[in-house]
Amino acid sequence: MNRLKFYCIALLCTPLISVAQSRTIDQRVDSVLKLMTLDEKIGQLNQYSGREVTGPASDKKTNQLNDLKTGWIGSMLNVKGVKDTREIQAAAMQSRLKIPLLFGQDVIHGYQTVFPVPLGESASWDLEAIRATAHVAAKEASASGLHWTFAPMVDIARDPRWGRVMEGAGEDAYLGSQIAIARVKGFQGEKLGGLDAIMACAKHFAAYGAAIAGRDYNAADMSKQQLWETYLPPFRAAVDAGAATFMNSFNTLNGVPATASSYLQRDILKGEWKFDGFVVSDWNSIGEMVPWGYAKDAKEAAQHAIIAGSDMDMESNAYRKSLGQLVKEGKINEALLDDAVKRILKKKFELGLFEDPYRFSDVQREKDVLSDKKHLAIARDAAAKSIVLLKNKQFILPLKRSYKTIAVIGPLGKSKKDMLGNWVVFPNDTATVVSVWDGLQNRKEATKFIYAKGCDITGSSTAGFAQAIAAAKQADLVIFATGESGDMTGEARSRADIHIPGRQEELFKAVKATGKPVVALVMGGRPLIFDAIAEEADAVLFTWWLGTEAGNAIADVLYGDYNPSGKLPISFPRSIGQIPVSYNAYSTGRPVKDPKNIHYRSAYIDESNLPRFAFGYGLSYTSFKYASLEADKKTFKKNETVTLTFRLSNTGKAAGAEVVQLYIWDKVASVARPMKELKGFQKVSLNAGESKTLQFVIDRDALSFYNSDLRYDAEPGEFEIMIGGSSDSIMLRQVIELTGE
Ligand code: BGC
Repeated sequence: MNRLKFYCIALLCTPLISVAQSRTIDQRVDSVLKLMTLDEKIGQLNQYSGREVTGPASDKKTNQLNDLKTGWIGSMLNVKGVKDTREIQAAAMQSRLKIPLLFGQDVIHGYQTVFPVPLGESASWDLEAIRATAHVAAKEASASGLHWTFAPMVDIARDPRWGRVMEGAGEDAYLGSQIAIARVKGFQGEKLGGLDAIMACAKHFAAYGAAIAGRDYNAADMSKQQLWETYLPPFRAAVDAGAATFMNSFNTLNGVPATASSYLQRDILKGEWKFDGFVVSDWNSIGEMVPWGYAKDAKEAAQHAIIAGSDMDMESNAYRKSLGQLVKEGKINEALLDDAVKRILKKKFELGLFEDPYRFSDVQREKDVLSDKKHLAIARDAAAKSIVLLKNKQFILPLKRSYKTIAVIGPLGKSKKDMLGNWVVFPNDTATVVSVWDGLQNRKEATKFIYAKGCDITGSSTAGFAQAIAAAKQADLVIFATGESGDMTGEARSRADIHIPGRQEELFKAVKATGKPVVALVMGGRPLIFDAIAEEADAVLFTWWLGTEAGNAIADVLYGDYNPSGKLPISFPRSIGQIPVSYNAYSTGRPVKDPKNIHYRSAYIDESNLPRFAFGYGLSYTSFKYASLEADKKTFKKNETVTLTFRLSNTGKAAGAEVVQLYIWDKVASVARPMKELKGFQKVSLNAGESKTLQFVIDRDALSFYNSDLRYDAEPGEFEIMIGGSSDSIMLRQVIELTGE
C-alpha cells in the first residue's frame, strides 16, 4: 500500500479532526483539499436555507438531509439553536470527508437580546457601545450553535426611501467606516475560534446603498471616484478590522451585477485589499443575473460568478447544478474552485470546527448565555445613547415629577413588537420587550399615566380621536408616540412617501389643539418627514427602534436619568423632492448665498436646499461652548501633521456628552470637493460647569481624496477646518495650508 493511499484510508476512518494538528491552517486546508472530489468541492461552495426563508423560496427540489450526508452542502443559513444545529451537523458528519458545516444567520441587531436597529445605534456615535452590543449578539448567537452573522451591513445610504437604510450606519463614509470597525470587532471578539466570536460578514459589496430611487434590488450607477470616495471606505475598513467574510449584492454597478464583478471581488477585494476570507453571494444573486439580462441561464450565471470571485452560492443552486459541467467542458478552471474551497475551509479550521464540529452547540451554555441579565443592561444603555433630541422648547424635558397626570397617546405607545424593528431573529418573542407604556410604569413615579391609542399606524379611521382628545384634556402633558411601523424598514421595504403614515399627524394636531404641552416620540427605521410635529410639538425625541429595552431607555431619557447625546447619522429631509440630501454638498458655480435671493442659483423655487434636521444634529439637556481654537502650525508639508487644540465646556446645569465633530473643506482642488467632509469625532462627557481641552490631529490622509486618475492623495492649498456639534452648527474655524511635499 503506498503512503498516500494509506493516509486517505486512515482519514476516512477517523474524522479530519486528527489531521496533523500541529501544522499550519494553510497546510491542513491543502491536505483536506487533496482528498476532495470535484463534487465535494462544489458541495463546499453550496449554501442552503433551512425551514425559514429570508428571500423568495427557490425552486430547487433537493432532499437536504441526503445532500448533507453526501457532502453537497457546505453551509446552512436560517438554522439556529443548539438542538437543530447539532442535528444538522450530525448529518454532515455522515458524509465521506466529514467536513463540518457553517451555520449562518442574519444577526443584524442582536440575537435574543435585541439592540437598537443599526441606523439608530449609529446615532450614538459611541464606538465602544456599538462594539459591546455586537459582542453580546455574538455571544448569544455562538451559544446557539451559530458561526456566522450576515452583518454588519456597511452600505452607505443617502436615500431614506430605501428600506435598508435601517441596517447601516447612515450617509457618511468616515462615520460608516468607524462603525464598521466597531461592529466587526464586536462580532469577531479577540479572534475567531473563541466561543464568544462569530464570523462577521461585511455586506453588500458594493454600492447597494445607491440603488436607483431607493428601490430595492435595483441598479447603481456612479463614477469610480464616487465609488471609491463614498461607498468603498467602510468595506476597506471592515477588511482591515479582520472581517472573515463578505457578501456581494443584488444591484448592478454600472451595468454589471456586483456578484459578477471581477473588478469588485478580484481586483479590489482579494487583490488590492488582500482579503483572505471568502465571499458569499446574496440570496440567489447568482440566479438573478438571468432576469437582470446579464446571463442567458443559471449555468452562465454560475460561470460569471465563480470567475468574478463569488466563493459561496447562497440559495441559487446554480453552483451545484453547473460548476461540475463547466469544469468538464473547460469553461472554468478547477483552480478557481480550489481557491474558493480553500478560503471556506480555512474559516472552518479557524473556528475550530475540524477539532469539534459541535463546539458551539452546548445545551447548558446556550441556557446560561441566553439568560444573562447583563445583556439587558447593555441593551438599555445602547438604546438610551441612540435617542436623538430634535427639539426641546423651553426645556420642557426632562419631565417634571410634579405632573399629576400624563397622557400617553398614539399607536406606538403600548406597542412591543414594533420596538424590535425589522430583521430580528425571534420576531414573535415580544413578552420581554419593554414598550413605552411599560417603561413609564416601571419607574413607579407618583404621576398617573393614562393611555389612548387615537388611531392605527396606517389606515384612515379617526374613530379613536375623541378618546385621545379627552385623555389629553385630563392630563398636564401628553407623550405622543408616533411613527412608521417596525416592519416598514428593512429589506423590500422601500417607501415612496416617507411621511408618518395614516392619520397620525392629524391626531397630533387634534391633541395639540387642546393646548396641552406635547412631547413627541417619533419612531422609525429611516429619516421620516413629520412637519406638524417638528413645528408644533414642544419637544421631539427620535427614538428609532430601540429593541428589547426600548421603553426603559425612553423613560430614562424622558426623566433625565440619561441626558440625550445622540446625533443624526443621516440627514432628515424636509420634503421628498429634496432626496437625496446629504450634508456634504458642493458649493456649485452658483451657490445660494442669501436664501431670499435664489434666482439663477442652485436652489429650488419651492423648497429650501437644507434638510429639516442635518447630519450630526442632536440636542442635549445641557449646553456646550466651543472656544480657543489654536493650530500648532498654519502651513505644513505632507509628511507633517497639524494639531488643533480647543476648549469644550459644559455651560448648562446637567452632566452630558457632546459629539464633537471635525469637518474639512479642500477649497481648491483638481476635483471639486464637498464643502464639508467629516474627518474625525470624539464623544466627550462633561459634568455641569466642567471644561476640557481637546485635540484633533490632521494628517495627510484626512486631506486626501481620489483625483480623476483615482490617485488618493492630498493636494497643496488651503483647507478650511471646522469644528462643531453638528454639520450645520460649526463653532470653530481655522484655515491651514498644505505647502507641498
Ligand atoms: C439579504 C441579505 C441577507 C440574506 C440572507 C438577502 O435577501 O439581502 O442581506 O443576509 O438575504 O437572509
